[in-house]
Amino acid sequence: MSRTAGVEVAPVSGSEPGGGTGGTGGRVRPRYLRTKSIEQSIQDTEEPDHALTRSLSVLDLTVFGVGVIIGTGIFVLTGAVAKEQAGPATALSFVAAGIACALAALCYAEFASTVPVAGSAYTFSYASLGELPAWIIGWDLVLEFALACAVVSVGWSGYIRSLLDNAGWHLPDALSGPDVAHGFSFDLLAFLLVLVITAILVFGMKLSARVTSVVVAIKVAVVLLVIIAGAFFIHPENYHPFIPEARGSVSGSGLKAPLIQLMFGYQPTTFGVQGIFTGAAVVFFAFIGFDIVATAAEETRNPQRDMPRGILGSLLICTVLYVAVSIVVTGMQKYTRLSVDAPLADAFKATGHPFYAGLISFGAAVGLTTVSMILLLGQSRVFFAMSRDGLLPRVFSRVHPRFGTPYRSTIVLGVVIAVVAGFTSISELAALVNIGTLFAFVVVALGVIILRRTRPDLPRAFRTPWVPVLPILSVAASLWLMLNLPAETWVRFGAWMVIGLLVYFLYGRRHSRVTAAGTRTG
Ligand code: ALA
Repeated sequence: MSRTAGVEVAPVSGSEPGGGTGGTGGRVRPRYLRTKSIEQSIQDTEEPDHALTRSLSVLDLTVFGVGVIIGTGIFVLTGAVAKEQAGPATALSFVAAGIACALAALCYAEFASTVPVAGSAYTFSYASLGELPAWIIGWDLVLEFALACAVVSVGWSGYIRSLLDNAGWHLPDALSGPDVAHGFSFDLLAFLLVLVITAILVFGMKLSARVTSVVVAIKVAVVLLVIIAGAFFIHPENYHPFIPEARGSVSGSGLKAPLIQLMFGYQPTTFGVQGIFTGAAVVFFAFIGFDIVATAAEETRNPQRDMPRGILGSLLICTVLYVAVSIVVTGMQKYTRLSVDAPLADAFKATGHPFYAGLISFGAAVGLTTVSMILLLGQSRVFFAMSRDGLLPRVFSRVHPRFGTPYRSTIVLGVVIAVVAGFTSISELAALVNIGTLFAFVVVALGVIILRRTRPDLPRAFRTPWVPVLPILSVAASLWLMLNLPAETWVRFGAWMVIGLLVYFLYGRRHSRVTAAGTRTG
């Protein structure tokens, strides 16, 4: 047993072994489908050694949401998508991705307000779908948050290097990361950023939330600057054609082509209507993060009321900003000439306004810091919840006696992510992050439908409208975006999930507290 000394298996509520939820009709559920009761989930959060402090308000949550959502997606990926996939119609890619996220957000909001404990989709799945699906989703979230944190840190490093270059300091290529150098290279700045934010998170949530709000203000100001100042530099002829004609793609052959094109035997293409959706599957990265608001439910003062508001509010704000930014930027510069590294700043340079470009680069660099930080926070909370349930070693869910934070999981993950950020290229990771996140959305939407049937009695501060129609639409939208990702991304995602299943069957299944309690009482 790897349980931490002094921590007992909490008594399990409900009449079924393992606190299994209703709907089994008296049948004994297979071990791997045992669910953790909602009451048990909430009770676990009250264990003194494993409890987080409830201190966040709806404003904190919204700041948190906007703080993590606006990042590499809009600051970096917009350029590549406009240039290579969708042209000025990138705004439509944002709309398509935003619709998929809004549908998912409505499902997330119901779950978050019903199961207000740490862990996001992982916890929700444990309460509705069972232990194995919960493990799968938790493992999937490890991929999403950890790699997204690495991606954003690498993006941050690029902006900092660009600012350093302006000041005449040039970092050697060997320390600039694999996106810059061809031979061996280590991204020193990304590595250091992750280590610093790890330390901040270990010292406490309140400190990081305060830092976050200042940084979020700078970031939103910079985005508004792009929209308002940029609107004066638009050349309407850049919008023609708004949806560039579809053309065959050279790099999009083989495993690099979207799975949907391979499945139906199409010649891989870019641009056109298909390009809007391929673009949507990429800029989807720009929306990742609203789901992380849900991971902070356990630390929210009034989760029933504030969770849905925090999630939907931050998503709405970001969608409006993204559409406006992409319309302005593709109007300022012909899409074929947009830069891929720093498109927002470079569009201002191209129109002869280097001062704005400098401000934007600075704001982007500052803003990406919080994105990275909140991604790491969300990650450590999922890891924390999985450890508290015994699916990962319990030692990771001990909170620090003074800071009240899950410091062990934060430190372990922070170091691993720092190394990944140091050695990996952004583009390969971003698609993997997207597929993992979309997969989580599918599971959450299905979970809403299942939980309505198995636990209709539970109080739900927020109810997803039109169940099951809306969750089914959410599943369809998420699957559609997944199918628009490259086939090689599917292969990598499959490999990660196979490793996860091995870990579950070799460790988690035997150490699960729900199963242990079920075996004891059942
Ligand atoms: N949505 C976040 C970003 O765009 C992860 O960087």
